[in-house]
Formats: sequence, C-alpha cells, structure tokens
Amino acid sequence: MTSATSKDDLLRTLTTRTFGRTLFLFDEIDSTNTCAMTLAETDAPDGTVVWAEYQIAGKGRLGRSWKASQGDNLTFSLILRNLPVSQLSWVPYHVAEGIAGGIEKVVDLDIRTKWPNDLMIDGKKFCGTLLESTGSRDAPSVVAGIGINVNQSSFPPDIEHSATSLYLETGVQQDRVRIFQSVMENLEALFDEVRAGRGDGIVETWKDRCQTLGKEISVRSDTETVHGRAIGLADDGGLILDTSDGLRTVYAGDVTLSGGVRH
Ligand code: BTN
Repeated sequence: MTSATSKDDLLRTLTTRTFGRTLFLFDEIDSTNTCAMTLAETDAPDGTVVWAEYQIAGKGRLGRSWKASQGDNLTFSLILRNLPVSQLSWVPYHVAEGIAGGIEKVVDLDIRTKWPNDLMIDGKKFCGTLLESTGSRDAPSVVAGIGINVNQSSFPPDIEHSATSLYLETGVQQDRVRIFQSVMENLEALFDEVRAGRGDGIVETWKDRCQTLGKEISVRSDTETVHGRAIGLADDGGLILDTSDGLRTVYAGDVTLSGGVRH
C-alpha cells in the first residue's frame, strides 16, 4: 500500500477550473460510482469527484466486479454535466482518451485502447471505465467511473496474465496524485472542446490509439457473440464489424481475438 492521500494533497496542486474541485474522499466505500450517481441526482456540480482508497463492492462493466488493492491505485468517479446530447455516444471515447493522454504526460508509456474503452499496455489491461447516466433524456448527467492500476504489484490468478499496473510496466512506484491531476487536466480540456462543439476529432484520435481495429475478433454480450473484422466506428459510436453475414454494428460486449485469445 502506498501512502494514503489527503484532500489537501489533491486540491493543493490541482490546476483545473472545475474538475476535481468538489471532492469527496473516502478511505473505504462500496463503490464510488454508486455514491457519484446519488450525488448526480442532487445539485453536485459538473466535475465533482468521488475518490476512494478502497472499494468493497467496486463495479465493472457487464455486471462484473472491480477489485483493486487498498491505497495502491486510483479508483474514482467523475460527474459530467451539460453535455451536448448529440455527443453522448462519444463520451466513453473522450473519457478513455482523456485518461490515456493524461497518464502519458507524466509516465513514459505507449497506451493503447481496446474497444470499447479499456486501456492497455503491451496487450495487458491496466485501466477500466464504467459509465452510467442519470437525469432526463434532454439533460442527462454522466458518471464516469475510472479504475487505474497504479502501484499494484500482483493480481489474482484468474487475471494475472491479462492485468497489469503502471508500476509493473515501468518498475517504478508512481505518484498517484500527479497522475490524478494530469488526468483531470486532460479530461477538463477535452470536455471543454466537446461543449464548444469541437469534439469531432475524437474518432481519428481514438482510431490511432486503438488496438482492436483491423483485427478478426469476437464480441460477446449478454445476448449473443458476433464474429468479424473490426473495421471502424459508426456515426452513433458503435463498432462496425465485417461479418460473414455482412456489416454489423455492436454497442457493448467483451472483445477476444478470433480463436478465443484475449487481446
Ligand atoms: C471495467 O473495465 O469493467 C470497468 C471498471 C471500472 C472500475 C471503476 S473503479 C471506480 C469506479 N467505481 C466503481 O465501482 N467502478 C468504477
């Protein structure tokens, strides 16, 4: 476990205008997303962050759990408000890019994305995001739950071959506060652009970073598994697959390389 973080540490060096400035910090919580969703239903401002040193019931995508060792990692949720409705389906891509770019500014690593928004180093996952929304269709609020494996040094047997951390990839203990600040800065700048109607560049940016495009993959969701070559992103944010039955667009699921290999 690395040293516990105080609210003062976090706020003192934050350079953002709003992101992270309203900050709820917990030693232990069930899930930062659950707490942030409740806050999003009140008048918590845009950019509010719920941060926890440890989650007892951290939530992952597709109903899974997210486990991260205490005090070693970044587990927090960010409330996003005032998003243009036309841009909502691109929010997961902006979030992934904001995190990846923020980390690359302070750690010398080449970060790739695995569709939809896992962050990977050399084929291993070190960051996952869980987006949930609340509010009305015309004025939704999005909670972006972000789990970054920073200084965790080992993983349970079921994921030890597919998971990694910034520490394991660099051999150096990383400064969680510095990474958080850089990610907040990057996300705030990206969402400023989105709100100003200048978010369109995300498609090309995301494609450049993505390790899934061009590959023969299987996408498994609750209801079906679709096989095909990932060839691009649809206008509504889905992933287009070239399958034996023609083009299919998928919106959620788990990607494996055809043949069952995780990638
Ligand atoms: C995934 O890859 O399955 C998504 C993982 C998301 C984990 C983060 S940790 C902070 C936030 N709170 C949660 O309960 N989940 C997200």
